[in-house]
Amino acid sequence: MNRNEMLERLTSIDPAGQAPANEPERQYFYIAKLKKHVETVIAELGRKPTCCVTTFGCQMNSRDSEKLAGILELAGYELIEDENADFVIFNTCTVRDNANQRVYGRLGELKGMKKRNPFMKIALCGCMMQEPSVIEKIKKSYGFVDLIFGTHNIYKFAELMVATFEQKGMVIDIWQDTDKIVEDLPVERKYPFKSGINIMFGCNNFCSYCIVPYVRGRERSRNPQDIIKEITDLVAEGVVEIMLLGQNVNSYGKNLKEPMTFARLLQEIEKIEGLKRIRFMTSHPKDLSDELIEVMKNSKKICRHLHLPLQSGSTRILTAMNRRYTKEQYLALAEKIKAAIPDISITTDIIVGFPGETAEDVEETIDVIKKVGYDNAFTFIYSKRTGTPAAAMENQVSEEEVKPLFDKVLKTVQEMARKRVQRFAGQTAEVLVEEVNDHDDSLLTGRMSNNTLVHFPGDASLIGTLQTVKLKECHGFYYMGEIL
Ligand code: SAH
Ligand code: SF4
Ligand code: F3S
Repeated sequence: MNRNEMLERLTSIDPAGQAPANEPERQYFYIAKLKKHVETVIAELGRKPTCCVTTFGCQMNSRDSEKLAGILELAGYELIEDENADFVIFNTCTVRDNANQRVYGRLGELKGMKKRNPFMKIALCGCMMQEPSVIEKIKKSYGFVDLIFGTHNIYKFAELMVATFEQKGMVIDIWQDTDKIVEDLPVERKYPFKSGINIMFGCNNFCSYCIVPYVRGRERSRNPQDIIKEITDLVAEGVVEIMLLGQNVNSYGKNLKEPMTFARLLQEIEKIEGLKRIRFMTSHPKDLSDELIEVMKNSKKICRHLHLPLQSGSTRILTAMNRRYTKEQYLALAEKIKAAIPDISITTDIIVGFPGETAEDVEETIDVIKKVGYDNAFTFIYSKRTGTPAAAMENQVSEEEVKPLFDKVLKTVQEMARKRVQRFAGQTAEVLVEEVNDHDDSLLTGRMSNNTLVHFPGDASLIGTLQTVKLKECHGFYYMGEIL
């Protein structure tokens, strides 16, 4: 459904009637009802109310935020980037404690704004809200919040927004889990030419440090027909690059009524005419199949980039992390991928300071970094997450012990990446033009198939197009180039 079709659907709904029981019909009913409330606000303010959706965390959250924005836009709000708005929603992350601290800090700042603006409403959603201790803290210390909901019922956003207009006090709705996937709700995309697509939700892996399975629930795959239809519609709207999203895309389709592998799904997506580039995130090394490598190798559209989180190079720590591969298995897998697809860029995630991790364990991680030669790596200091098995381990490592080890890992990552990224210098590459350069508006910024950034002279009319660019100079992690 495009936006006009959605608007038309709204006009056929009587917001004074009975709410339908089925989804997504029920949510369209509530969007129509929300629109009525927004019209009252417009009459009082003499303008459209503004709203700001702030996203913390990963690409799944970014995609969820586009869904929240789609509903708000359809209901009559004006989307702005400024938190001094009539409605502010924080879509939160709790993967590491610093993500939580940032939310509390920003929430404190909103308090004063709300005092000055009697129309202002504040909502919180996302992963952090799935933690009972967080809800207690918000109820106690941030009583000015109007709405809280979690990850499992995000599709109910319109219904919950209506409740904030019709009920007194804080509206709280948190579910423990769900097996439901609601399709066909509105989405307001950030970029016209590229888009994320959820192919699955949740995670079943329970890596011992990770809170995601507790806050995102069990793994559920979307039906391939729904995914293909969504992408086909996006391509018709001008999207050329898609990013398939899941916590572990390599286990896609295992629980479908008619099971299907991720590699097969990719082959089906490849057939969509007009689609130029396919990306995906994240691949768990334990489930990466030979079939996938073969499909990637033969594909014209799948990007030459694989994000393959290592977490640690020490088999002892990997076992304690419940990652279910050894250092040797990981290295063999990386070698196999590089041999099959020589122009591929591999990137990774690394955690330093897992309980019991020693300097020798970290040397193993450094050894893997050197052997694989990552184009980029995200390095994190281990963060203790309440409720995970690792949080209960006795041998937690202190901050003072971790810091020098972390710095050493980071330094190795940067040195290696600098060397690796250079290997394309002097070559030409196809680049998707994404935006005008942040620092110099005579330059454009685009992305190579392998995800490396390139800056080059050009004008904004080229945004969203694929250009052949000569990679003239490598500056650490990016290139300066010239359109041919
Ligand atoms: N599903 C993805 C990762 C999702 S979380 C995967 O398995 O690869 C993104 C990254 O955050 C992880 O790869 C990990 O490196 C990091 N991370 C997760 N939990 C963490 C914790 N408790 N402390 C520090 N980093 C963590
Ligand atoms: Fe977390 Fe592991 Fe699941 Fe990734 S695979 S989300 S690290 S539990
Ligand atoms: Fe954070 Fe939730 Fe993503 S915890 S990393 S936003 S799945």
